[in-house]
Formats: sequence, C-alpha cells, structure tokens
Amino acid sequence: MRTQVGIIGAGPAGLLLSHLLARRGIDSVVVEIRSRAYCEARQRAGVLEDGTVRLLREAGLADRLDREGLEHGGIHLQFAGERHHLDFRDLTGGRTVTVYAQTEVVKDLIARRLADGGQLEFDISGTEVADLDSHRPVLAYTAADGRRHELTCDVIAGCDGFHGISRQAVPGGLLTVTDRDYPYAWLGILADVPPSTDELIYCHHPDGFALHSLRTPQISKLYLQVAPDARIEDWPDQRVWDNLRRRFALPGWELKEGPVLDKAITPMRSFVSAPMRYGRLFLAGDASHIVPPTGAKGLNLAMADVTVLADAMEALLLHADERLADRYSGTVLRRVWRATHFSWWMTSMLHRTPGADAMEAALQLAQLRYVTTSRAAAVGLAENYVGYPPLRRGWG
Ligand code: FAD
Ligand code: PHB
Repeated sequence: MRTQVGIIGAGPAGLLLSHLLARRGIDSVVVEIRSRAYCEARQRAGVLEDGTVRLLREAGLADRLDREGLEHGGIHLQFAGERHHLDFRDLTGGRTVTVYAQTEVVKDLIARRLADGGQLEFDISGTEVADLDSHRPVLAYTAADGRRHELTCDVIAGCDGFHGISRQAVPGGLLTVTDRDYPYAWLGILADVPPSTDELIYCHHPDGFALHSLRTPQISKLYLQVAPDARIEDWPDQRVWDNLRRRFALPGWELKEGPVLDKAITPMRSFVSAPMRYGRLFLAGDASHIVPPTGAKGLNLAMADVTVLADAMEALLLHADERLADRYSGTVLRRVWRATHFSWWMTSMLHRTPGADAMEAALQLAQLRYVTTSRAAAVGLAENYVGYPPLRRGWG
C-alpha cells in the first residue's frame, strides 16, 4: 500500500493536516488507535485564538464554528476577593478568542474528511514506523479487522499526542527534551448548568486556583487546582462544588450548580522536545510539546504547527523543494517557546505552590495587581492570550 503522507493520530493536528494536504492535492492516510466515538467525545480544550478561527475559516471548516462558537472579548482575573476584567478588544486592537470545544473541532474535521473521501482508519493497533531516514518511510499498523498493513509513504507526520510512538521512534540522543512537572493537577468537571459568568474567570485563592469556563450557553466547564496525586474517587461532586463555591466567592455573585456530566484529573507539565523532525518524520502538536492548560494554548499550537507543516510538505512533495521542510522545526519552535513561557507564567502567577513561603505568595499578588492596573502589563497578557504572533496563513 502506498500514500504520500502517513499521519499517525486523529486528534486536531492529524485531522487538520490531512485536510490541508487534501486541499493541496496531496493524499494521506490517518491511522488512530481509538474509536471515532472516543475521539469525538474526549473532553479537552475549549478556547480558540482568533488566528485559529481565521485559519479554520480559510480552510472551509468553520460553518458550525461560525454559528455556534461564542466570541469572547476578555477574561476576568480574580484574587484577594476582587474580580477584574481584562478587555482584549481594547488591549489588542480588536482581537478576541472563541469558545468552541475541541470535541466539536474534532467532529467537524472527521465529518469533513469523510465527506471528502479522506482515508481515516480508527481502532487500529501495533503502530510502527521504519526507514525514517530514507525517502520511502514505512508506517505499519494492524487494522480494526485484524489485518496487518504496511504503508509506504513519502513522509510521515507524528501527530499522536504526548503518549504516542512517533517521538520515541527518533534514535536516542537526537532529541533534546526540556521539561518541568508542576506540583499540582487540575480536576475538571463538565456540568449541565448555564455558566454563572459572561467570560472566563481565572481565580487565584489561598486554597488553590479555580477556573470557570463554559462550552455552550447551557453547559459549564470548571476546574480546580488539586494535589498532583489526587484521586477522582476522593472528589465526590459535592466536594468539588463546595471548593469551587469557596474559591470563587464574591459578595453579590453566586455560582450555579448542576449535574456533573464528566470529571477528570489532568497533570500539569511543560515539555518541549526538539527538533521536530527526523529525516522524513515530522512531529506536530502534543507529540512534541505540552503546556499546562492555564494559557489555553495546546490546541492552538497543534493547529499552528500543521499549517506550517502543510506548506512545507507541499513544497517538498510537489516541487522537490526542501527549504520549508528544513525550516519547519525552527519556525514552529519559536511560537512553541513563546506559548511555553506564557503558559508557565500564567500557571505560576495563579496557582498556590505547596510549601510556598510568604514571599512567593506576596509576589504572586503583586504581579496580579500589576496586570490588572497597568495597561502595559495587561497588553502583555492579552496579546499572548489571543495568540502571539497572530496566526495567519503562511505565518511560518
Ligand atoms: P491529541 O489530541 O492528543 O491527539 C493525538 C491522537 O493520536 C489521539 O487521538 C490518540 O488516540 C492518537 N494516538 C496516540 N498514540 C497513537 C498510536 N500509537 N497510533 C495511532 N494513534 C495514536 N488547549 C487549548 O488550546 N486550549 C484549551 O483551552 C485547552 N484546555 C485543555 C484542557 C485540558 C483538561 C487538557 C487535557 C488539554 C487542554 N488543551 C487546551 C490542550 C489540547 O487539548 C491539546 O494540546 C490538543 O489535544 C493537542 O492536539 P494533538 O492533535 O496534537 O494531540
Ligand atoms: C476550557 O474551557 O476547557 C479551558 C479554558 C481555558 C483554559 C483551559 C481550559 O485556560
């Protein structure tokens, strides 16, 4: 079997890459270990930068996003019993973010690939890659019906997330990993209750961080900082709501509660593996880098990677021009490091560090006070949150 681009992983990175390549007349096969239903239901990100929205629109993927996405012109920052609004439109010359769940992005991408005749193989197993340093790399897998396949490709895209096999396939010693684990995790709930806020609330509290986000005008998404070894069975719904209510408490404001539809604990880490290419294997998205979710950057970075990668693959495969492919890793890593810094900065400012001394706690409050009173500081937060540098087609 033969294809031009073998894509490992049907997350946002792999699916969008497959679509962008199809628009350039390049064929691909996407292989995914999970079922279609699992990929479409996996609860994750919710915030798209304006550049990500524009990119999806230009790629003809934004019909439902334009109908159902909720444009947000700012966030609230809460600390010391005060809630401050940051107005992104004012601070960034009119830029915004859009609340549209990753589940919906993935559903739209899968539906579109299938409607366009794209080849997506769900429920596969035994993913392997070989001959990555040749011009005919091989992607092998066992299909859902138990048959083993060997796909001979021109290039392979490793879009298989943090726990995938692609990054591990790069020979030892060639990758430099820079990483940090944080001494806390997030417990997230999806709740069947209208949001109690017009815009997201990022809340710093002596008990720990809390975030009030949303999915639709009827469904809320909320997160609590918990211990890194917290167990879901120790967090019954009422304990979650009690903690959320205490951390968000503000005179005259009330947190509406409702049935919990989903509950999960996510570890927090920063991780960058470089370079993002080995021979004819290109890595993209979480396969190569992870940020803590406090900056809402992971999904946006994954989409940014593959916009650059699609151009590089077009030049390489249709015009035998290696230059963009050679520049791919350096180009996207500049954006990755900007987002890595921003996500670390937001995380450090907003969470309670276990064992922190009085100095650290006071410095966090001083920084929060600064970004909510100085326009210069607020612009720094806002321009990173909406996406820096602004994502445009061909930004790489
Ligand atoms: P993934 O979505 O992880 O997709 C990889 C795919 O590869 C998966 O479907 C997996 O099953 C498949 N796979 C794995 N191994 C193999 C294999 N061996 N063979 C074949 N397939 C394989 N980002 C934001 O931008 N904004 C947010 O608000 C935000 N909030 C978040 C909240 C939480 C709680 C979490 C956990 C993440 C959040 N993120 C956010 C991050 C975002 O969800 C990820 O960065 C994004 O999913 C990355 O997309 P991806 O396609 O690179 O990887
Ligand atoms: C979410 O809605 O899931 C979400 C929003 C903002 C973040 C992280 C997650 O920073």
